[in-house]
Amino acid sequence: MGSVVLRTGQRMPLVGLGTWQAAPEEVERAVEAALEAGYRLFDTAFNYNNEEAIGNTLKRWIEAGKVEREDLFIVTKLPHIGNRASDVPKYLDKSLKRLQLSYIDLYLVHMPFGFIPDATGDVPAINADGSFVLDLKTDHNAVWKAMEEQVDAGKTKAIGISNFNISQMERLIVNSRIHPANLQVEMHAYLQQKELRIFCETNGIVVTAYSPLGSPGAKQHWQKKYNYSPENFPDLLGHPAVQQIADAHDRTPAQILLRHLVQQHIVVIPKSTSPERIKQNFKIFDFELTPEEMEILNNLDHGEQGRILDFGFFKGVENHPEYPFKGTKKDTHNAVNNVFSSEEKQVAKPLNALCVQNV
Ligand code: A2P
Repeated sequence: MGSVVLRTGQRMPLVGLGTWQAAPEEVERAVEAALEAGYRLFDTAFNYNNEEAIGNTLKRWIEAGKVEREDLFIVTKLPHIGNRASDVPKYLDKSLKRLQLSYIDLYLVHMPFGFIPDATGDVPAINADGSFVLDLKTDHNAVWKAMEEQVDAGKTKAIGISNFNISQMERLIVNSRIHPANLQVEMHAYLQQKELRIFCETNGIVVTAYSPLGSPGAKQHWQKKYNYSPENFPDLLGHPAVQQIADAHDRTPAQILLRHLVQQHIVVIPKSTSPERIKQNFKIFDFELTPEEMEILNNLDHGEQGRILDFGFFKGVENHPEYPFKGTKKDTHNAVNNVFSSEEKQVAKPLNALCVQNV
């Protein structure tokens, strides 16, 4: 299994199990299957409402002596409803309790924007028109100071951010005592975020790609949870170029998409609750993509048009001063599908010849 070293000196596995959209009853079994397959990195968030189920399996394995706590790498996140300095210890304590752990390996600020929680403190408050109640006073520097204090208190070994853009990170870094060790963002063949990656590399920040498979389950999830349904949805796994490279290596399209990222030292956290796919997604260290194949996959980048998760399902979020994709929020899905249909044909043809050469 490959790994990368964080600025803290910790080794972070290159492949982990993503658990967004994984219901508690299925995630308990998924974590079991992942541990069996060799996964040691598990990614969750307060928002995913599955920390307790994940913790149950981890606890069973640790207590049975099947895995050492030190060999696990657990990531969880401060929710946007707790995006204020005074709430940082409270939500981290809640996550530790749910996960049944005494420390987290990496604690991330989940979103750059803040929402006001409802009376339960566990979910966002919603306005009469269905929009979310925004906390317009989100202060990244104050939140970050509280994050640093969690490292001092031994409750997390490293801290980082998720869904921040470059200028938000620049502001944070200038004012930080402990620099962010990791940035977790949407990243896959259609949204390769090269500028962001260079920024992270320059500043010693390891990048984690969420939705590395293009999040094929997200559409259904949004429909069910938010009654939000973008018209078209990209299909990375079905892209002919990806399929052809997969055929050339006798692999699946998912393995090719993941390999493309880890070969560039980007951590991937594909979500799956299927034991078969969990195993498959981990078996990506026994083959290599050729420079030509890497180039073909690099050329699938659609820039901002390739973004799937612009948080449009949080009605009104674009009005928050720290909404990270200002000026980029557009009818992404229509645009993406229009580009795909013409480009897929172009990419697929020369690839045939190329794959034969490289097999
Ligand atoms: P499932 O949980 O049924 O396996 P992403 O990590 O990009 O968000 O993608 C997660 C989605 O992709 C889930 O819907 C998951 O479904 C599906 N998935 C995960 N691994 C694979 C795979 N190897 N092949 C096809 N689909 C996969």
